Amino acid sequence: MGLAGTIPPHVGNLSFLVSLSVANNSFFGFVLSELSRLDRLKEIDFSFNSFNGEIPSSLGLLSRLQLLILRDNSFTGTIPSSLCNISSLRKIYLGFNTLTGFMPSSMFNLSSLQVISLPENKLSGPIPSIFFDMPSLQCKQLYFLGLWDNNFKGKLPPEIGNLTMLSTLDIGINNFEGAIPSEIGNLRNLEYFFVSRNNFTGWIPYEIFNISSLQLISMAVNKLSGQLPSNIGLFLPNLKFLYVGDNKLSGTIPNSISNASQLLEINKLSGQIPPCISNLTSLRELYVGFNQLSSVVPLSLWSLIDIQVVNLSSNFLSGSLSFHIGDMKVLQVLDLSINQLGGDIPTTIGGLKDLVNLSLADNRLEGSIPKSFGIMVSLEYLDLSNNQLYGEIPKSLEALLYLRFLNVSFNKLRGKIPTGGPFVNFSATSFISNDALCGAPRLQVSPCKQGLAPPKVSTKVHRLEYILPTIGLLILGVFAVLFWTKCKKRKAKSSSEVELPPLVTWRRVSQQELIRATEGFSLNNLIGEGSFGSVYKGTLSDGTNVAIKVLNLLVEGAFPRLNIMIDVAAALEYLHFGNATPIVHCDLKPSNVLLDEDMVAHVADFGIAKLMGDGDSMTQTMTLATIGYMAPEYGLEGIVSTRGDVYSYGILLMETFTSKRPTDSMFTGGMSLKHWIEESLPISVTESF
Ligand SMILES: *[C@@H]1O[C@H](CO)[C@@H](O)[C@H](O)[C@H]1NC(C)=O
Ligand SMILES: *[C@@H]1O[C@H](CO)[C@@H](O)[C@H](O)[C@H]1NC(C)=O
Ligand SMILES: *[C@@H]1O[C@H](CO)[C@@H](O)[C@H](O)[C@H]1NC(C)=O
Ligand SMILES: *[C@@H]1O[C@H](CO)[C@@H](O)[C@H](O)[C@H]1NC(C)=O
Ligand SMILES: *[C@@H]1O[C@H](CO)[C@@H](O)[C@H](O)[C@H]1NC(C)=O
Repeated sequence: MGLAGTIPPHVGNLSFLVSLSVANNSFFGFVLSELSRLDRLKEIDFSFNSFNGEIPSSLGLLSRLQLLILRDNSFTGTIPSSLCNISSLRKIYLGFNTLTGFMPSSMFNLSSLQVISLPENKLSGPIPSIFFDMPSLQCKQLYFLGLWDNNFKGKLPPEIGNLTMLSTLDIGINNFEGAIPSEIGNLRNLEYFFVSRNNFTGWIPYEIFNISSLQLISMAVNKLSGQLPSNIGLFLPNLKFLYVGDNKLSGTIPNSISNASQLLEINKLSGQIPPCISNLTSLRELYVGFNQLSSVVPLSLWSLIDIQVVNLSSNFLSGSLSFHIGDMKVLQVLDLSINQLGGDIPTTIGGLKDLVNLSLADNRLEGSIPKSFGIMVSLEYLDLSNNQLYGEIPKSLEALLYLRFLNVSFNKLRGKIPTGGPFVNFSATSFISNDALCGAPRLQVSPCKQGLAPPKVSTKVHRLEYILPTIGLLILGVFAVLFWTKCKKRKAKSSSEVELPPLVTWRRVSQQELIRATEGFSLNNLIGEGSFGSVYKGTLSDGTNVAIKVLNLLVEGAFPRLNIMIDVAAALEYLHFGNATPIVHCDLKPSNVLLDEDMVAHVADFGIAKLMGDGDSMTQTMTLATIGYMAPEYGLEGIVSTRGDVYSYGILLMETFTSKRPTDSMFTGGMSLKHWIEESLPISVTESF
């Protein structure tokens, strides 16, 4: 009611008063001993005021008192032991004050007591004896015991197991030590079990995993050892929160966790993240940083679309980020730093509008920083340092109003550091050691040149090479790989002669059929992801098992990719036939195709281009074009011809369609990208595609 002042002593004259509540006001001063005259009083609620001084011991005279709420004030001194004389007392709330001393020794003697709540005080000493000779005197009804954030110490007495009605036991943030007694297992009604931030040692009592009512276990920051049972979910079907981080646990992440789980915080684990993690649809926070998890990040992780915090930092995880990452719409914190993740950052990441903290530092990520970062409007903390990212820092990042921290150090970035928005506040330490960043002197990078710096990559131009991985036609084609599993089983004959899976038959299949075959491109059908997109398994209407490659759709504006190849073809045609003297480019490859803002392709870098005189070819010593894209006659004969460019263009096309680089390590010995496709494709390719 917004009242202030002190409680007048005359209150003591209201002798019929049964309930006295002045909660949520601004009263101060002492609680007067006159109150003890109100011997019909059943309830006192002084919570959320500024009362100070000691709790008067005369309150022990209120023999009918059932409810005593003094929480959230500034009481000092000890808890008067006289309170333990009030046999009618049911609930006592003294938390959030500055009380000192021990818990009164006979507190657990009050047989009607249901709630003891004393958190956030400065109470000390051990928990007083709970076990008495006369069982009738024990507080059998106690369902809430809250002692967190005090200075309690000593062991947790085994008699705690006698408090069989307990549903909340919170003794976190104290100095308790020794083992957690196995008698805990007797608390069959326990729902919330907090013992985190103490000095507990020994093994996690296995009996605890027998308490099926448990919803939360918090044992983090102790010195507990042992393992979590692998089938914890069977025993604890209601468990929503499991905090066991910062202990000495070993073993693996349990492979069955209740699907009610909302939070997992585990450490000192090895092995893999169980694929069935996707069954944890209620999971909200996942902390498994600083473990020894190896293996690839399971695709199922990305299907946890309601998750808010994912911390997998400091493990040995490999694989790449899925473009399904953009589906985790409510993600706020994503920490995948210090792992071995590779591949590109999917542009779909821009869909994470709630993301506040993102760290992908210390991985092996490559490709460019997607422009779509600029639409992650909540971003405050972005660490991409220590990867192999190239290209420019997108100017779109200037739109991130809340960005306070940026680190792109130790990458291969080049070009102008944006200057607007949050960039005014970043210093040189955000941009250490990159290939060719330029900008203001205070950033300790070279000044930006105005003119053409070959090859110029202005903020509005991308090299095809950089953008290829994110380009997308939704579905380019169907690789009807018969029985893909069969192909997977084929073994490499020798390290130099690899037997490659054939591309087999191309067939025409409607998009509708693809959608049906893959159950709407569901995650269940996702079998892998690469830099260009994802592969789904599916079964066509005729029963053929197929693997379907879907290229990532560029978020910032879908465009027919084929247009890029047509642009390049048009450029070549112009070079070869648009002038009296044909020009041979001699080095056509993705990095020499620049895309402007409208995604129109331009052929660039004429460093080794040649003017053709008479005839359509000439022999001369020439700077070698790029291996892989170079026509065989260039290398062997030193022959320059327009046909050589066409050859390179063909390789570029194949690269685009198969997402394999001609320089890929699989192309060794006699096998090249061209041979691979030649061998794989049936004669009828032109008919069916
Ligand atoms: C509790 O009550 C007993 C008698 O019932 C009395 O002797 C004792 O002094 C009381 N203790 C306190 C602390 O008031
Ligand atoms: C857990 O409960 C099962 C059956 O309910 C029982 O057989 C087993 O002994 C119990 N284990 C512990 C450690 O209490
Ligand atoms: C996960 O869910 C799938 C499908 O609902 C089910 O078949 C599987 O047994 C579940 N896995 C676990 C470990 O609960
Ligand atoms: C984000 O990271 C910063 C720095 O590590 C940390 O201080 C902050 O608490 C984090 N925010 C969230 C929401 O986790
Ligand atoms: C960025 O990361 C590098 C390498 O870890 C570090 O040296 C640098 O201080 C970091 N910059 C900031 C702003 O934290």
